[in-house]
Amino acid sequence: MKPKITKTKKQKAEKKKKPVLFQNPKGMRDILPDEQMWWNKIRRVVDEVAEIYNFSRIDTPILEDARVFEAGVGASSDIVEKQMFVFKTKGGDRLALRPEGTAPIMRSYFQNSLGRFGQPLKLFYFGPMFRYEQPQAGRARQFHQAGFEIIGDDDAVYDAQIILAVFRLLEKSRIKDLSVRINSIGCRVCRPVYRRKIQDYYKNREERLCRDCRRRLGDNPLRLLDCKNDDCAALKEGAPILLDILCGACRGHFKRVLEFLSEVNVPYILDNYLVRGLDYYNRTVFEIFSDYGEEGKPFFTFALAGGGRYDYLSELIGGRPISAVGAAVGWERVVELMKKNVKPAAGRERSQKVFFVHIGDLAKQKGFGIMETLRQAGIVVSESLGKDLLKAQMRLADKEGAAIALIFGQKEVFEDSIIVRDMRSGAQESVPLKDLVEILKKRLKTSV
Ligand code: HAM
Repeated sequence: MKPKITKTKKQKAEKKKKPVLFQNPKGMRDILPDEQMWWNKIRRVVDEVAEIYNFSRIDTPILEDARVFEAGVGASSDIVEKQMFVFKTKGGDRLALRPEGTAPIMRSYFQNSLGRFGQPLKLFYFGPMFRYEQPQAGRARQFHQAGFEIIGDDDAVYDAQIILAVFRLLEKSRIKDLSVRINSIGCRVCRPVYRRKIQDYYKNREERLCRDCRRRLGDNPLRLLDCKNDDCAALKEGAPILLDILCGACRGHFKRVLEFLSEVNVPYILDNYLVRGLDYYNRTVFEIFSDYGEEGKPFFTFALAGGGRYDYLSELIGGRPISAVGAAVGWERVVELMKKNVKPAAGRERSQKVFFVHIGDLAKQKGFGIMETLRQAGIVVSESLGKDLLKAQMRLADKEGAAIALIFGQKEVFEDSIIVRDMRSGAQESVPLKDLVEILKKRLKTSV
């Protein structure tokens, strides 16, 4: 006789437990089918601008050795200090989900000797980035950036070209009221002088600073200028201004950047407090905002894009000195604005679509083959094979905005014909199946 197995209370309770309906991780959202048109548009615009300005695509892994960012972006930056997703692999490697794309590209530049592809080398990328931030409108833990980098030249014309390309990218995405805020944060010669001046200025005011700023005063005093805390923001009003302290070379470089921008009519605003949160920048730094909104209030106070020159990043990650400049656009913020001011186009694909309507089982079976013939010929076919009612299928054809409905029933099966119905006018005719591809191609061409 088999021994009787009795279940413990815990086992019984577990059996009763309902399966969990899982949720997405906080701050990481799904991009649903009805939003994809925005993303398709963005990808098209990014590719177009990259082609016009002659940038080549690069894709780096989503995971990197965490040290790439610790060394490159800076251990005292918010990104590394607070926002990186870092984990240990089973093999013991410390990897990070990339919080940004510039340091990995510099890593790849040396690892793959990318200098052989040209000087300067112009690269672009598009993909997800990850930062452990408190999610809110315009701030996510997984977000997408398109980035543009020019590596191998310190000429001010490239700073201007990066700003111009990103500005055009946003314009082509139909973002209104763009403003470029720009500053120069100097170089190894003038920045230490400025650091000392800032430290002197804040020394007597230290107790009025927030905790983060008090900590930063020693190792990263420039960051005090972009602290959002009310008390710190008020204090910075009297702080020394970087532009007054720039060395001759940095001053000349910045002047040229501004001249090049004026040449192409890109409007800019000098912002003495703009320092950016990443440690690798020197000289030009900038951010692009949209002041578009209602009743004088912009929808977004966050930057849509940010970037600058980073001539020292290569050395920070162990390479030889190499000058570079770049920027990245954050697409979640752009999509939110696009939704507010761009009407989604009745997509070309939609009005070019054919909807297949079947009546009866035999028509459904034969129709399966006909649809495949059409698709192989490059015709976009939609259908609802799970529904048998003619009315329900026609309603769906209408809802989907199909240009043409194909109606295929018992009679048509035996006559090797099919009914072609123009969904706009309602006119319909029976045509031989053998001519269907040709007829549809002609009709669809004229229906756009
Ligand atoms: P960043 O300013 O940190 O720069 O990010 C660029 C853009 O990414 C921001 O302007 C914003 O639109 C978007 N972004 C950043 N964090 C978030 C977030 N949590 N949620 C939504 N969007 C966000 C960089 O990443 C540099 N690598 C840019 C660069 C390229 N510098 C030189 N080359």
